[in-house]
Amino acid sequence: MFAAKLSAYALAGALLASPLAIGASVQRRAVAYFDPTAGGGSMFADAGNGLGEPLNVIISGLSSPDVLTEDGLINYAQAIGFSTECFGIHLGNPFPANLGDGHGPVNQTVELRQDYGDEDGGTCLESLIGGNHFRVFFQNGPSANSGAAFLAVSKEEPVTDNHDIVPDGYDIGRDTLVQSAVGITSNDGVTYSTTAQNITGLLPTGTEGVNHDIAIDGIVTLLTVTIQ
Ligand SMILES: *[C@@H]1O[C@H](CO)[C@@H](O)[C@H](O)[C@H]1NC(C)=O
Ligand SMILES: *[C@@H]1O[C@H](CO)[C@@H](O)[C@H](O)[C@H]1NC(C)=O
Repeated sequence: MFAAKLSAYALAGALLASPLAIGASVQRRAVAYFDPTAGGGSMFADAGNGLGEPLNVIISGLSSPDVLTEDGLINYAQAIGFSTECFGIHLGNPFPANLGDGHGPVNQTVELRQDYGDEDGGTCLESLIGGNHFRVFFQNGPSANSGAAFLAVSKEEPVTDNHDIVPDGYDIGRDTLVQSAVGITSNDGVTYSTTAQNITGLLPTGTEGVNHDIAIDGIVTLLTVTIQ
């Protein structure tokens, strides 16, 4: 009787556990994103001076899974006019962000810069003359595993100005990136279809907490990227 009971439990356990186990190993939670503040995180990447860069673009967790990896995101970024940094030379400090997913503060996975039409050398040009750039953070911790990529996008001044952000540089950076992303793009044999939706209420409006004292309009653009 004990054995029968045990195996009944084992069976129930297996039935209960298997979808979860599959969920944990293969599939993230099927949501666009989780609000980081709900898990004790923030919609700002920490600039290390008590202020932050707004995470003003989210690549939805409902995008094709192959977009939501470091390599996949770099390929996508190249399709929309960005590239990895100037020959791997990093000209600024990494910033951490806490996406409220149970991982706590984590440094950016990668930073990409506008490539001015040349994937290898163009980002060096961006470093010199300024342009759009973004840091990437994945929301993939145990308590809020949407798989979404949170981007801190901003338009920078040239390197001579120490990579400061241009006036309105967060909103401008976001809108410029979104304009080049929406629609059909492709790179290295992969074709992407991207749609955009604006979200309010995740970020505040104004300058409070924002690095360089630059006002933001409080909009986060959610991109859903589907590989064709
Ligand atoms: C981020 O990177 C910097 C420089 O490599 C390091 O000092 C810091 O501890 C890292 N922060 C986190 C949260 O991992
Ligand atoms: C999102 O907001 C920006 C700034 O107001 C605007 O330019 C853009 O057209 C909006 N995009 C969508 C998809 O509503």
